[in-house]
Amino acid sequence: MRLSGKVAIVTGGARGIGAAFCEALAREGASIVVADVLDGQPVVDRITGAGGRAFYCRTDVADRASVTGLAQAAVEVFGKIDILVNNAAIFASLVKKSFLDIESDEWDGLMAVNLRGPFECARAVAPFMIAAKSGRIINIASGTAFKGVQGMLHYVTSKGGVVAMTRCLARELGPHNVVVNAIAPGLTMSEAIADNPAWSGKAAQPTVMSRALQRDQAPDDLTGALVFLASDESAFMTGQTMVVDGGAVMR
Ligand SMILES: NC(=O)c1ccc[n+]([C@@H]2O[C@H](COP(=O)([O-])OP(=O)(O)OC[C@H]3O[C@@H](n4cnc5c(N)ncnc54)[C@H](O)[C@@H]3O)[C@@H](O)[C@H]2O)c1
Repeated sequence: MRLSGKVAIVTGGARGIGAAFCEALAREGASIVVADVLDGQPVVDRITGAGGRAFYCRTDVADRASVTGLAQAAVEVFGKIDILVNNAAIFASLVKKSFLDIESDEWDGLMAVNLRGPFECARAVAPFMIAAKSGRIINIASGTAFKGVQGMLHYVTSKGGVVAMTRCLARELGPHNVVVNAIAPGLTMSEAIADNPAWSGKAAQPTVMSRALQRDQAPDDLTGALVFLASDESAFMTGQTMVVDGGAVMR
């Protein structure tokens, strides 16, 4: 167990990639706080059913008071916060469209979750990590930021912001021994994506063919990188974005 005794918050942990992250961290011995606007209790039940420790904290990452409550709840229940996974985002519900058709309030609503959300969460947990002189923040970006994928300018821009935020946070938190890295997944068949013909099956084929490894990507393809970044194995690595996409983007 590589994360025995650690405490991890996973935002957007109720389903999809976030749920896979919660279960992978729990398998390595971490205690998990499942933070989501959706009900995370089924994920908690799977973790506790397998002998792990977890609880669900209803959290809106775009709401500062809600995020402050999340950090406090984590410390009250588990005593500390070692790992923050900033995974929550508006993605699966997006419909591709020209940037000319994106309304201003739609842009602002997405940025509030995808870009301000990770900032709110980092700001809420960092004081605990600084006091402990130890911590891991793992931001979930997207390969779309490197590819410049068309049809979702607000989303791709938000993920480019996450890459930049990762670098800046790494510099600000480095003196406190808190490391900050990001994972940029390729198109991944989380439930909501796999169930949507606009993203899966035939629609996913051009993406699959752009990879060195030409198959669908599953949430569990991302958990190895996540556990590595959460563990001491990556202790001298910070400010980096690991692209995990079967070799579509090569940087
Ligand atoms: N699936 C992909 O193809 C893919 C590719 C690259 C990056 N990503 C990123 O991976 C992450 C997870 O993607 P997914 O496919 O599992 O998506 P998903 O939509 O299934 O999961 C996102 C989760 O975030 C939660 N969430 C949304 N708004 C929230 C808020 N305001 N506060 C708290 N929780 C909120 C949702 O309820 C959901 O549980 C996202 O950051 C996404 O951008 C996904």
